Amino acid sequence: MLLILNLAIVAAVWFGGATAITGGMSVGTVVAAINYLSFALFPILMLTGMIGPVSAADASASRILEVLDAQPQARQRPGANQTRITRGQIVFTDVSFSYPGNGAEPALSNISFVAEAGQTVAIVGATGSGKSTLVHLIPRFYDVTAGRITMDGSDIREMDLPGLRRDIGMVLQETVLFSGTVADNIRYGRISASPDAVGEAARVAQADAFIRALPQGYDTRVGQRGVTLSGGQRQRIAIARAILVQPKVLILDDATSALDMETEIRLQTALDAFTHDTQTPMTRLIVAQRISSVLTADTIIVLDHGRVHAMGPHRQLLAQSAVYQDIYRSQLGEPDNSKEHAHG
Ligand SMILES: Nc1ncnc2c1ncn2[C@@H]1O[C@H](COP(=O)(O)OP(=O)(O)OP(=O)(O)O)[C@@H](O)[C@H]1O
Ligand SMILES: [Mg+2]
Repeated sequence: MLLILNLAIVAAVWFGGATAITGGMSVGTVVAAINYLSFALFPILMLTGMIGPVSAADASASRILEVLDAQPQARQRPGANQTRITRGQIVFTDVSFSYPGNGAEPALSNISFVAEAGQTVAIVGATGSGKSTLVHLIPRFYDVTAGRITMDGSDIREMDLPGLRRDIGMVLQETVLFSGTVADNIRYGRISASPDAVGEAARVAQADAFIRALPQGYDTRVGQRGVTLSGGQRQRIAIARAILVQPKVLILDDATSALDMETEIRLQTALDAFTHDTQTPMTRLIVAQRISSVLTADTIIVLDHGRVHAMGPHRQLLAQSAVYQDIYRSQLGEPDNSKEHAHG
């Protein structure tokens, strides 16, 4: 564009000049024409500069619309019953699941187990064994391919979807903090929560102490343009967020992986006391890498390539499952029957 406009000016000088010399045109007309051309130069350059951003915005807009138009895989059925979770008993019956478009290899095959109301069920297994997939099926991020999951006796596909999710507190494997204050981040699940309730949830999650030590305490901004928190701090904020809604079912997907063992034990003790105080039995599903996190669980499920390899309480698994023994030995040393020794 710059070249064309400048050539136009050259042409105006050339021909205009020649015509002015022979007297066919006044010098003023030529000068005016050159001036007009240079005035036109700037806006036209601006316009061409906008072509790039406009086409980039067009591409972005179509991507955003793709997300906005996406239909969730799990949808509310017409006439879903409005019953909310009252106790939190979860039963998996012969559940299999393949990711859409990845049909050949099922991520989970024939999973059956029962988590009674108020119990703690732990899920352990190698990376990629399907632990996250299993817990994602409970709030219906995906629907099962075969089999069924029931909550307090009713199939979760027949339940009111927002109601189901409201009663499930979930801490995802990847912690997400939003731009805003620490308190906003904890309050995310229950916007109306009082500062006291937020503090209480943070105390249970072992986050209160470090939050108070931040420059503006609970009003410190986090996320983009805010303070940077450590992995373990972020995890504890996410746990506080899940606890605040007083869910009937609490799912922790590797949510304590960045905490040291001592903090994790304090968190579990506080959680026990909290459920005892609020008198709401809270069924807990805990995905863990560390065996030490699951020793006290009522049931431990050992997953292997999407199948239940073994299931039972710690002592039983230690006696019966070779895979579990291997994991135990690699983390806590030789199994012997004294827990204190193993811990030390
Ligand atoms: N969104 C997805 N689409 C397709 N395949 C997936 C998806 N998420 C996970 N998978 C596959 O499902 C299997 C189980 O993955 P999953 O995330 O459940 O493992 P995991 O046990 O949670 O592992 P980790 O301990 O690393 O978190 C893996 O083979 C993985 O590649
Ligand atoms: Mg996972």
